[in-house]
Amino acid sequence: MKILGIETSCDETSAAIVEINEKSNQIQLISNIISSSLPLHSKTGGIIPEVAAREQIRYILPVINKAMNNYSFSDIDKIAVTIGPGLIGSLLVGVETAKTFSFVLNKPLIPVNHLFGHIYANWIDFGEKIEFPIIALVVSGGHTDLILMRNHKNIKWLGGTRDDAAGEAFDKIGRLLGLPYPAGPKMEELAKSGKSTYNFPRPLINSDDFDFSFSGLKTAALREINSVKQLDEEIVKNICASVQEAIIDVLIEKTLKALKKYKAKSVLLGGGVAANQKLRDEFTSKTNIFVPQKSLCTDNAAMIAVAAIFSSNEIPWQKAEANPELYFD
Ligand code: KG4
Ligand code: ZN
Repeated sequence: MKILGIETSCDETSAAIVEINEKSNQIQLISNIISSSLPLHSKTGGIIPEVAAREQIRYILPVINKAMNNYSFSDIDKIAVTIGPGLIGSLLVGVETAKTFSFVLNKPLIPVNHLFGHIYANWIDFGEKIEFPIIALVVSGGHTDLILMRNHKNIKWLGGTRDDAAGEAFDKIGRLLGLPYPAGPKMEELAKSGKSTYNFPRPLINSDDFDFSFSGLKTAALREINSVKQLDEEIVKNICASVQEAIIDVLIEKTLKALKKYKAKSVLLGGGVAANQKLRDEFTSKTNIFVPQKSLCTDNAAMIAVAAIFSSNEIPWQKAEANPELYFD
């Protein structure tokens, strides 16, 4: 069975074809095309929703066309699309395009929650090895959530951020340091030659729940930045290393706590921040984890197609609706 996935929740326009062998359950990634309007947003220091939506419209059909490669639409069995969460203008482009394909081609439509997409990216490379119950940590620009999955249908949200998401913390602190948006990857790079000399707070690290909070970290970083006369390269690198360490410490501590409490058999990471090598290494040194290859951590349509396979939630195209506030049910 071949699924065409479409993802347009934010600034990436992506289309992918994923094939599942229904006997062996083996997943094959046939194509995964991503066009990003990120360079436009770097200039403005953040995403302007109107600009992102216009770029989605510009790229959606060329990206789908490229993803189809040598295939024809008659080879596609189902269409999967991100319906939320995300920016409404961006989401609508993907949802309306998917509805049109579903209507014209008479193929089933599967709506997908973007956050589940980040978790299901793990099935592309590790499908056969993943065992339930699962603890999944989604760390992206807009989300930091811990999820318990007892099976594909039994899913419980354990906790999430009360203010800034982990990626947002990287981006906002990076901005204070004068780094271009999105600052996460750049901060990781700078942190490599920095030292964790600042003892920044690890908010909620010992709290009884599975919630996170990163806005205090931003305030603490701002205080340090304001206290120096001039931000030289060494200070910037040390702040990057210290911020990164504080975020990683909290993410790992909370995830391990959930792993223990729910006696999970697998830990899955997903989302843009999971591309951070230091986070991947530190997690791996403490427990066995599954984490997608880096190109599948940031937004892409392959993860949406894979999530659709396991949700098997086909709906008539008339019922598909973009929902910017969609969350874990
Ligand atoms: O999942 P994603 O591509 O988009 C959302 O759904 O939000 O995540 C983007 C976020 C940004 O905040 C970006 O700074 C962060 O992921 N990010 C990183 C790294 N790569 C991307 N954060 C830290 N280290 C990285 N290497
Ligand atoms: Zn995402």
